[in-house]
Amino acid sequence: LSGKLWGGRFVGTVDPIMEKFNASIAYDRHLWEVDVQGSRGYSRGLEKAGLLTKAEMDQILHGLDKVAEEWAQVTFKLSPNDEDIHTANERRLKELIGETAGKLHTGRSWNNQVVTDLRLWMRQTCSTLSGLLWELIRTMVDRAEAERDVLFPGYTHLQRAQPIRWSHWILSHAVALTRDSERLLEVRKRINVLPLGSGAIAGNPLGVDRELLRAELNFGAITLNSMDATSERDFVAEFLFWASLCMTHLSRMAEDLILYCTKEFSLVQLSDAYSTGSSLMPQKKNPDSLELIRSKAGRVFGRCAGLLMTLKGLPSTYNKDLQEDKEAVFEVSDTMSAVLQVATGVISTLQIHRENMGQALSPDMLATDLAYYLVRKGMPFRQAHEASGKAVFMAETKGVALNQLSLQELQTISPLFSGDVSCVWDYGHSVEQYGALGGTARSSVDWQIRQVRALLQAQ
Ligand code: ARG
Repeated sequence: LSGKLWGGRFVGTVDPIMEKFNASIAYDRHLWEVDVQGSRGYSRGLEKAGLLTKAEMDQILHGLDKVAEEWAQVTFKLSPNDEDIHTANERRLKELIGETAGKLHTGRSWNNQVVTDLRLWMRQTCSTLSGLLWELIRTMVDRAEAERDVLFPGYTHLQRAQPIRWSHWILSHAVALTRDSERLLEVRKRINVLPLGSGAIAGNPLGVDRELLRAELNFGAITLNSMDATSERDFVAEFLFWASLCMTHLSRMAEDLILYCTKEFSLVQLSDAYSTGSSLMPQKKNPDSLELIRSKAGRVFGRCAGLLMTLKGLPSTYNKDLQEDKEAVFEVSDTMSAVLQVATGVISTLQIHRENMGQALSPDMLATDLAYYLVRKGMPFRQAHEASGKAVFMAETKGVALNQLSLQELQTISPLFSGDVSCVWDYGHSVEQYGALGGTARSSVDWQIRQVRALLQAQ
């Protein structure tokens, strides 16, 4: 088959449908830069091993520069035979420098080249995404710091639970994202391992020094086994899982905010810059940015599950199924980049309705504090819970708010109630009790802010 890099043992032509089916150039062209980078590193390794003369290496390096220049200037012309980025670049290199180009692939293998390229690409992408994630966390912490005196209802089961600081809510989401950031660093560490020099399966027989290749391409370590190196995609699966979990967190935050910006909650208002309207109902302002963040989570999970299904049941070493990994990586990377930037914009421009937040608090949310009041008077918590529950029931039956029960009425439930029970009916006092590290008291919220800022600084 003329024009194919593997055509020697073939006769006839490939069915055009198969040609199209087999090709990955439409998407793996994204790898043009790392493919050139990987080839540059490999040609240095070949020269050190005596497989290229210095002049040949220089010729190849020069040719690769030209290939990169053409891609950068969008003048690179694909030919119908370019089935993927690796074959396209090598075909072009040969046109530019002649037969010496044929020495570049000495002992390398396509399997080995594609996995090296993908690791180079993902390593860079992880750094970019990590920066965007930290930008979001920073925006959230700034907001938490500026608005830490605003109180509002905390919900469990979407039912009013206890008064909390608005900042405590923001930080609950920011803290989850710090774990995503940590996880991304770990994933990057496992991506940053060099597989080059593994050949197709058995290794390299020509004396290529893999330590030297590692240093050339600035990898943290080298893979241990050539069969594993050319075919494992753990690092892709881990990346997709990282993205899935991060999207779970972002989707949860989006869902909270979607509720909070309904008229029924009226706790926050989304900026116009991140909302859209209705073509029919002029009054509508829809939180499309948040809805899309929520929905993209599904798309990312699908890519993660899809890759795992592709990997499951594959026999050892490279199989063409692995070509499917790249679309998942590219799509998820693009999605994460957009989602993180939109989330940052939403959070930084969000308006909060302080008054509504305060008005949304109700005395029944202090029933737990009423139980703690009795605990402080020496009552075992189980009894105190029961007593406070009776007070809630009494108030409900009488049709009054919990704080409207008279001292006499409370004393029919427990003689431990006395005049100082009035302190319980203060939301500011309530949140300040939760001073243990991690709680919603001002001192603890400040501590959380300091902890997250310290992580930010360590970046
Ligand atoms: N385009 C292929 C991929 O993405 C490159 C590797 C092909 N290797 C092979 N032995 N056919 O996986």
